[in-house]
Amino acid sequence: MKQDMILICDLGGDENSALARAVRALGVYSEVHPHDITPDELAALPNVKGIIFNRSGAVVEPGSALTESGIPALDICGMPSESELEAFVFKKCGCEANWNMDNFISDQIELMRSQIGSGRVILALSGGVDSSVVAALLIRAIGDRLTCVHVNHGLLRKGEPEQVVRVFREELGADLIYVDAVDRFLTKLEGVDDPEKKRKIIGKEFIDVFAEEAHKLDGIEFLAQGTIYPDIVESGTKTGKAVKAHHNVGGLPEDLNFKLVEPLKYLFKDEVRACGKALGLPDSMVYRQPFPGPGLGVRCLGAITRDRLEAVRESDAILREEFAAAGLEGKVWQYFTLVPDYRSVGVKNNARCFEWPVIIRAVNTVDAMTAEIARIDWDVLQKITARILKEVKGVNRVCYDLSPKPTGTIEWE
Ligand code: XMP
Repeated sequence: MKQDMILICDLGGDENSALARAVRALGVYSEVHPHDITPDELAALPNVKGIIFNRSGAVVEPGSALTESGIPALDICGMPSESELEAFVFKKCGCEANWNMDNFISDQIELMRSQIGSGRVILALSGGVDSSVVAALLIRAIGDRLTCVHVNHGLLRKGEPEQVVRVFREELGADLIYVDAVDRFLTKLEGVDDPEKKRKIIGKEFIDVFAEEAHKLDGIEFLAQGTIYPDIVESGTKTGKAVKAHHNVGGLPEDLNFKLVEPLKYLFKDEVRACGKALGLPDSMVYRQPFPGPGLGVRCLGAITRDRLEAVRESDAILREEFAAAGLEGKVWQYFTLVPDYRSVGVKNNARCFEWPVIIRAVNTVDAMTAEIARIDWDVLQKITARILKEVKGVNRVCYDLSPKPTGTIEWE
């Protein structure tokens, strides 16, 4: 193993992950572990060179496995100065600043190879950054003993299913099962206008399709997942409160009975992106905007129809193209279009028309809990409007949503 590690002991305070990030910012890998880690668990962690006890807000005492380990330790209360951390990490613990993506990747490959042995792994590959990075790592680690399943539910953005197939099957040589489940999803969703029901149907159908594919395969013992560190933190640690359920488990069926492979579970989102870059994934995958699991299904408002779904997909593609052309990619946190299930009167080719509006939403946020409207240049909006009105079938108006969150959520459904 190439990387040294500083272990942050979770005593119930709230700045453990910030502390882990501060240590990583010094170039030294760091993980947060519970106060009652056992001697065997501690011994299984590679290259632990130092332990930090974060006493700020502590509600428990560290267990003897840590206090009696003989590993250099530092007691701190909240975020320390950088120089104090530096002195501990480099002088007292003798760490090297060897935390970088190349070392992370080679360590993860070694760890996954020893976990998986000669076994086989299955992965639900959505095309999102987390599952894509996991796939790319596993391809390096075990090659064709990884089977990726890409379920096209018809609710992905323009070109996304094709990109997943191109990048993973053709460029990276993955064993990829592409499931065209478009009709199946859209049939199940027919006439369903309640947002929560739509989400539930999409989630359940996804699980069913994935489980069916998994059952067709023999000898798969492991399930890989793109769980990342914030998912673990938000799901609640032994001493902390759960913020929300661990969504990356993605509702995948427990009765599939797989052992989990989660190589990204100690990475923060920006580190996952850096890992994806280092693995050679395209920028459009690595820097993909957040995209809801139910996809365009929650942007084709009300009961989904194929024609309105296409209007969402086409207008979204135009919006993304024009934002990129205007240099806004990566500068605006999230932007997309949606199409409501009502029409308005307009004029096209000197005749009355009765067609849908496209609504543009573009927001900036830090954590998606609150959001403000992105101030987009008027000329850019006008160009997008003109293109949508010309190129997207069945649309005669374009509106810009000016609502912050709260009161509006980022998505409309
Ligand atoms: P809201 O609409 O709640 O969205 O303000 C906050 C952020 O979460 C994304 N979002 C989802 N992401 N599954 C996801 O993985 C979902 O069901 C889902 N719903 C909303 C949304 O795009 C925004 O970035």
